Amino acid sequence: MTSPKATAADVTSDVTISARTRILCISGPNLQLLGAREPEVYGRATLADIHARLAARAQALGVDVDARQSNHEGTLVDWIGDAPRENAAGILINPGAYTHTSIAILDAVRAVGLPCVEVHLSNPDAREPFRRRSYIAKACVARVAGFGADSYELGLDGLVRVLARRAIAP
Ligand code: DQA
Repeated sequence: MTSPKATAADVTSDVTISARTRILCISGPNLQLLGAREPEVYGRATLADIHARLAARAQALGVDVDARQSNHEGTLVDWIGDAPRENAAGILINPGAYTHTSIAILDAVRAVGLPCVEVHLSNPDAREPFRRRSYIAKACVARVAGFGADSYELGLDGLVRVLARRAIAP
């Protein structure tokens, strides 16, 4: 009997299955104001622009991204806690100012155990000293910061590589 070899059709069907890989993208407080908010720090792209670019990148990578924003810590905690039940394979998160204050968000990411990448438009380490502490970093596999709106796409690329290594994504 000949040993089965991967064909183009097999590869295509693998990609089709993996295309269902879901990634939850969460943005925290004040990020709904992007575009108008301190453009010299955060750039001119709106959150809608960022979500559209993420969706395009996700399509190219063969994954789905569910992108949301809330100003409320408890809502962010709820979304993280619900992520496994909603079949998310990983989390991309910009917690905004909660990065520097929220043990609840750190605990939520630890509790669900999904791979999580922290993203920031600015580079918090190069700003005020109070931005140097990141609670969520302790639960993240990686951080992308300082690339403006590109940080989200770069974070998605990195997260998909992490998932691929764990054989969850294409
Ligand atoms: C931010 C950096 C945080 O320090 C700040 O509070 C934000 C945005 C960023 O994306 O650069 O709200 O997370």
